[in-house]
Amino acid sequence: MAEPFVRPIREEDVPQIHAIEQACFPMPWSEASILHDIRENVVARWLVLDGGEGQILAYAGMWFVLDEAHVCNVAVHPDWRGRGYGRRIFEALIALAQENSMAMMTLEVRRSNAVAQALYHGCGFLDVGYRKRYYEDNREDALIMYREFSCENAPDGDQAEDGAPSGAK
Ligand SMILES: CC(C)(COP(=O)(O)OP(=O)(O)OC[C@H]1O[C@@H](n2cnc3c(N)ncnc32)[C@H](O)[C@@H]1OP(=O)(O)O)[C@@H](O)C(=O)NCCC(=O)NCCS
Repeated sequence: MAEPFVRPIREEDVPQIHAIEQACFPMPWSEASILHDIRENVVARWLVLDGGEGQILAYAGMWFVLDEAHVCNVAVHPDWRGRGYGRRIFEALIALAQENSMAMMTLEVRRSNAVAQALYHGCGFLDVGYRKRYYEDNREDALIMYREFSCENAPDGDQAEDGAPSGAK
């Protein structure tokens, strides 16, 4: 296989993404809802990891809401997990949010999904709290996680001489 590369989603990727959705999630996005999101939703950004010749290994999506990027999906094809592709696509999503001047990124993840939580913690996300009985299929809680960029991106000159943030004066 050629070296996988990250690129924006294309409409012809949707059947493969839908098949991965069905393999990964109890409540998968339909093909129509994915197509609608990438065609009509001006705040949606989806990336894919292309293994060459359009083979989709992983994908991730988010919505820009004011200055917050809300992650709506992250998945790696079941045959291609544990090879760093989840981290690769998620880091690309983070970079895209930062390039678009988002102040922070947020997401929800099932309380039981330790693998995804480990990925997000490894990418600098922190736990905020739980949305109780959030998922309709089994009423599982959602853990809310976030990463704030605004403080990471503050230029050095934004510090007062005594080291205090300028906004704290
Ligand atoms: C979560 C998911 C995207 C991770 O993708 P992946 O390609 O297997 O993960 P990577 O190989 O890039 O590993 C990234 C991190 O995930 C964690 N991880 C991966 N596999 C793991 C495992 N078997 N056990 C525990 N942690 C694991 C580790 O923290 C790893 O970081 P490290 O390599 O520095 O230890 C993938 O398991 C998936 O698609 N799951 C089903 C869909 C899903 O749950 N999506 C998230 C919805 S919120």
